[in-house]
Amino acid sequence: MFITFEGLDFCGKSTQVKMLKEKLEEMGKKVTLIREPGGTQISEKVRDILLDKKNSEMHIEAELLLFSASRAQLVREKIMPLLKEGHFVISDRFHDSSIAYQGYGRGINLDSVNTIQHFAIGSAVPNLTFFIDLPFDEIDKRREKFGATNLDRIELSKIDFYHRVREGYLEMSRMENRFISIDGTLSIDEIHGKIIDFVQNWIVNNK
Ligand code: TYD
Repeated sequence: MFITFEGLDFCGKSTQVKMLKEKLEEMGKKVTLIREPGGTQISEKVRDILLDKKNSEMHIEAELLLFSASRAQLVREKIMPLLKEGHFVISDRFHDSSIAYQGYGRGINLDSVNTIQHFAIGSAVPNLTFFIDLPFDEIDKRREKFGATNLDRIELSKIDFYHRVREGYLEMSRMENRFISIDGTLSIDEIHGKIIDFVQNWIVNNK
């Protein structure tokens, strides 16, 4: 089973990713966590280029292709072989991040973004995608707590960019069945409980 997590920066998805991994392991499953961008030697190098504050002159088209190149490597080197071995693969971000950030956020034509994603991921389409949704003022509070100097290049982008990214995610959750939007203002345990319910349902229905 392939599960991905999506959401704005600081939405709390990384905590949920870890909790889901532990729960699935308790259930006796083999679980591998992956982070995007990154996850293989080549993909980690691409990640460094993408998040480096010195690369402020990067064009949005190059940004989209670098995220997608990193993903194409990760899919073939890790995700597909692991799924074939029967692992549960959980990815902290995947191709929907490119649709939300580069498509809706940066304004690159959505048809082009979708075509590139299709090419990059091939048959590695997630079975379930959890979108942890938080209103922007809550994200902003968490950003402030984190301290602006610690933000990476993408996180330093303008506020209206984040609004567009969130709208993109909301639209995707309306359009795609695998895409489950979860209220990020709930407690950590409540969110975890909902995620477990969806995953267990999926397992039961796909035996
Ligand atoms: P990261 O530090 O991994 O953030 P997070 O913990 O929130 O996942 O940095 C990833 C940044 O890159 C984040 O701001 C989202 C952005 N991003 C894209 O713009 N497009 C993509 O396809 C992916 C995977 C990430």
